[in-house]
Amino acid sequence: MSLAMDAPNVLVTGGAGYIGSHACKVLSQAGYRPVTFDNLSTGWAAAVKFGPLVQADLLDRAAIDAAFAQYSPVAVMHFAALSQVGEASRDPGLYWRNNVGGALNLIEAMVAAGCRDMIFSSTCATYGDHDGVVLDEQTPQLPLNAYGASKRAIEDILRDFGKSHALNSVIFRYFNVAGADPDAEVGEWHRPETHLIPIMIEAAAGTRDALVINGNDYPTHDGTCIRDYVHVMDLVQAHVLGLEWLRAGKQSRVFNLGTGVGFSVAEVIRQCRAGTGHRVPHSFGPRREGDAAALVSGSRRAIEELGWVPKRSSLKQMIEDAWRWHQTGGYSG
Ligand code: UFG
Repeated sequence: MSLAMDAPNVLVTGGAGYIGSHACKVLSQAGYRPVTFDNLSTGWAAAVKFGPLVQADLLDRAAIDAAFAQYSPVAVMHFAALSQVGEASRDPGLYWRNNVGGALNLIEAMVAAGCRDMIFSSTCATYGDHDGVVLDEQTPQLPLNAYGASKRAIEDILRDFGKSHALNSVIFRYFNVAGADPDAEVGEWHRPETHLIPIMIEAAAGTRDALVINGNDYPTHDGTCIRDYVHVMDLVQAHVLGLEWLRAGKQSRVFNLGTGVGFSVAEVIRQCRAGTGHRVPHSFGPRREGDAAALVSGSRRAIEELGWVPKRSSLKQMIEDAWRWHQTGGYSG
């Protein structure tokens, strides 16, 4: 699809990553030019298909200033971050430095450039463990690990800059993002892969050994962790709505993005087997540090206020789309 010459630019940090690349696709469909700003530490140049790539690091303030000067974006979508719960628990300094330091540079560069609208990728990991209660936007944020803590800190920074510099933000707290672009132009490709659904699919396809289930002694109905899975295409559509919300001059707002339905790891395995026709070889291992037993979203606000309509977020659809993407061989295929 070709973009109009005067399509407004949106700076997409992390646009070469899983969620960012899908966001770039829907931004281009919505008439924006997504300008990816990514250091390619975990992302892929091959995932940048819908606009230019600035290969640079958010810890390099001069590079951010140069990107603002070159592209004059009307808004920023900030996805770039380290995002592994296990790694964050082992190396918290890395998460504080990279995620918070990078975001602060970006926010200060926005202010300096006169760009006032940010869509920020936060997480349900900011809530911590609340004994399985449905988490809505008012639930106290008590993160269990440095990943969640770093994202909560960035939310605080955005609120402070909202007061001091009229920076407007839409903060999305994601639950577990899964699936892939149904056209398989972009998809989920982490190396190493740590996320449940792609690992499960690789185990089902025989491209990796058995999946190890991280603990089966949680206080859930079958002992395995419960998560609320949301399709990446639905999630990024909410970002376009968030962008339009800010461009219409509406107030800064926090929205959860999930489905309100939780599935245990064992249930996801059963669905994967049903959806792919392949057995998922698996074994049981110890708990993973920093994991909450159950994280389920209350997402009424996004539906009622933003007009968000999730369309592909059934577990069956997410697994089918992830399976189709996996068949392409990903970015190294
Ligand atoms: N799991 C396994 N075995 C694996 C991989 C995962 O049992 O090989 C389990 C995890 O322990 C967890 C569930 O499957 O119970 C989901 O794990 P993911 O790693 O797929 O997702 P997380 O819930 O840990 O993390 C994701 C995102 C974070 C986000 C978080 C909120 O990666 O960015 O959801 O829960 F913050």
